[in-house]
Amino acid sequence: MTALKVNGIDQDVDVGMHTLLAVLRNELGLVGAKEGCGIGVCGTCTVLIDGEPISSCLMLAAQAAGRDILTIEGVAHDGTLHRVQQMFIEHGAFQCAYCTPGFVLSTVALLRENPSPDAAAIREYLAGNLCRCGSYPNIQRAIEALGA
Ligand code: FES
Ligand code: FES
Repeated sequence: MTALKVNGIDQDVDVGMHTLLAVLRNELGLVGAKEGCGIGVCGTCTVLIDGEPISSCLMLAAQAAGRDILTIEGVAHDGTLHRVQQMFIEHGAFQCAYCTPGFVLSTVALLRENPSPDAAAIREYLAGNLCRCGSYPNIQRAIEALGA
């Protein structure tokens, strides 16, 4: 068994040689992180490890032992959405929402590093998150509003 700290809760999990994405979804029932490409290109599997966005499809769960793992399920607090989630809703920053957990987590990390990112900084930071529905303009507006 391996000790994983997920959304502030310590969990003992049989991780085997599975990816962090697989363990989150299949062992812990945290299905907010999605499998898209499976090869580190699309960002749908993004989680934060010690505050940094990573592609959980590329990381073995064992490598995350002892580190702080934040998934989309841990972003809201006491039934109140995180301000990033709220602003994505207000700006209609999704259609199917398959990409949204990854975008929200990357945005949380971006705003921690840079509270008022300009358009270029937003595009650069989120270059690893893809949206097949093409919601980019509304995502951009939502993040600009957060930094205003
Ligand atoms: S599923 Fe991990 S980056 Fe696409
Ligand atoms: S809202 Fe559908 S993939 Fe982004």
